[in-house]
Amino acid sequence: MIRLLRNGKARWGPIPLPFVVRRWVERRRWNKAPGRLVRLLPSQVTEAQFRGWMSEVEPITAELRENFSKATWAPGTVQGDTAAYDRGPILYALVRALGARSVVETGVASGSSSRYILEALRRNGGGGRLCSIDLPDGTGIPQGRTVGWQVPENLRENWTLTLGDAKVELPKLLEGLKEIDLFFHDSDHSEEHMTFEFTQVWSHLRDGGVLGSDDVYWNQAWERFLGPRGRPEVLVGGMGFTSKGRSPPATAHGSS
Ligand SMILES: C[S@@+](CC[C@H](N)C(=O)[O-])C[C@H]1O[C@@H](n2cnc3c(N)ncnc32)[C@H](O)[C@@H]1O
Repeated sequence: MIRLLRNGKARWGPIPLPFVVRRWVERRRWNKAPGRLVRLLPSQVTEAQFRGWMSEVEPITAELRENFSKATWAPGTVQGDTAAYDRGPILYALVRALGARSVVETGVASGSSSRYILEALRRNGGGGRLCSIDLPDGTGIPQGRTVGWQVPENLRENWTLTLGDAKVELPKLLEGLKEIDLFFHDSDHSEEHMTFEFTQVWSHLRDGGVLGSDDVYWNQAWERFLGPRGRPEVLVGGMGFTSKGRSPPATAHGSS
């Protein structure tokens, strides 16, 4: 669906386009995503590097898939093994490209996104930290598993997992962190909550840092947040990404 925004621009919405057209639009977006994402990043990052980082994660994806294939899901639960694979390579490449040391995410469930981010922090040279917040709601996790079960033991020393409502926990966390390189929202997708998280995080995002969100079409929080800030956006796979500026970090890119 094409929606007309208040600023007069037209925008693709998710809804009633025929399936083949939607699939074509999405494929095109995926193909172009690395080239578009590097334009949000420090200027020395090339599209080829970004694509290279995205393909580094293939073994991680295979392992997550294997783990999920052995899991048992309670009847009627949302099976949380489907959505994570597309966002993983992008999150991984963003952490690598930013040379990130401080990453925050909301919404963990089994911990697929956390796993990709933590792997990238380790490849950046270690010492970085991912702070994740999740309010377990009993969905999206296989039977007998707990939040973040897909994160292996050897990555946990760089991980702070807080269980609680992001509405309460995120402000406390940001206060302690001061500046972050990357934020990814994947928790409560209500317009009110998404707006709350974006607004909270923006002032803590360093110059050049990236703000990302899953499910930006669920409501108008994303476009309403970006509108007055005039920042560029990249839309892919239902996700949205923007950056606060283009200044490179003090130490861009870690080890190979
Ligand atoms: C879509 S899942 C996250 C998936 C995860 N990012 C991944 O890659 O697999 C959404 C998670 O957000 C959690 N959640 C929902 N509302 C929340 C809130 N207000 N604060 C923190 N977490 C919340 C849910 O319990 C669920 O575990």
